[in-house]
Amino acid sequence: MAAVGVALLLTAMVAAPAAVALLHDDVEPMWGADHISFHTGRDGVETLALRLDRDHGSGFRSKGAYRFARYDIDLKLVANDSAGTVTTVYLTPDLVPPEDHDEIDLEFLGNVTGEPYTLHTNIFVNGVGNREQQFRLWFDPAEDFHTYSVDWNPKRIIMLIDGTPIRVFKNEASRGVPFPTLRYLRLDGSLWNADDWATQGGRVKTNWTQAPFHAYYRNFRVTPCALSSPDEPPESAGFDKQGLDAAALRKARAEHLLYDYCEDQNRFKGEGLPKECIPLEIEV
Ligand SMILES: *[C@@H]1O[C@H](CO)[C@@H](O)[C@H](O)[C@H]1NC(C)=O
Ligand SMILES: *[C@@H]1O[C@H](CO)[C@@H](O)[C@H](O)[C@H]1NC(C)=O
Ligand SMILES: *[C@@H]1O[C@H](CO)[C@@H](O)[C@H](O)[C@H]1NC(C)=O
Repeated sequence: MAAVGVALLLTAMVAAPAAVALLHDDVEPMWGADHISFHTGRDGVETLALRLDRDHGSGFRSKGAYRFARYDIDLKLVANDSAGTVTTVYLTPDLVPPEDHDEIDLEFLGNVTGEPYTLHTNIFVNGVGNREQQFRLWFDPAEDFHTYSVDWNPKRIIMLIDGTPIRVFKNEASRGVPFPTLRYLRLDGSLWNADDWATQGGRVKTNWTQAPFHAYYRNFRVTPCALSSPDEPPESAGFDKQGLDAAALRKARAEHLLYDYCEDQNRFKGEGLPKECIPLEIEV
């Protein structure tokens, strides 16, 4: 109980963004516009529904793009038989050359009824990803809305679920680890068919007799990071000390991490583990 209290308190201190009731003011369709709809609930909060059927899926993006911000959105995933479907929330720049592409991904891989979703995460910097980590969620993400967040400042990226940190990627540019600092990123969401790989390695295909599939988004909010100027050296701003509950992070990873590229020695046998996977030596 005590740990939960601390986590809530820290989250509240980091950001208390006002909920944006009218999502359609802040996002726009990206593709499959005829499969996107908005519904306003009795509470006045608007929900965006993405649809996937045999014809195609759909996707939206935020109208605003930000360089360093915390992005929060509530999401309720495809219910029942979601095998083969992928629902996403990710940060991405506008069209840039591939070598300039940064991306911060949360992808929810569906499953057959009664079997759990997998949350697949990745971070691309300057066109290069290969930083996959996967998680088993500790609740049924299709039963209700949960808040998924990316908190990105010049010092680190934190991914959170309902305020609990699950993944941190630090800015260690000083030892040659790439970190996204240059591009303005939008938040995108999408629902699409990926039955060639998503569920149990592609063995389970989408059951189209269950279509259409729906995923729901609401309460999108962005809290831009308060830099005094875009060129402010991040190390001067004290961002590294902001808002990470290290104990909650350790606990979440101990209990829910399924895969971490940093532990995949086989995969990096040739070139060795990426630099960010090798702990810094403790300075004395
Ligand atoms: C999921 O299954 C339950 C129980 O069969 C049903 O009531 C519900 O409508 C289904 N949900 C969707 C989105 O198909
Ligand atoms: C689906 O369920 C199976 C069986 O529980 C599990 O092995 C798998 O990791 C789950 N997720 C995906 C995306 O296949
Ligand atoms: C697909 O869904 C239908 C309707 O619920 C069901 O009868 C059928 O067994 C499912 N197919 C597979 C391969 O699970």
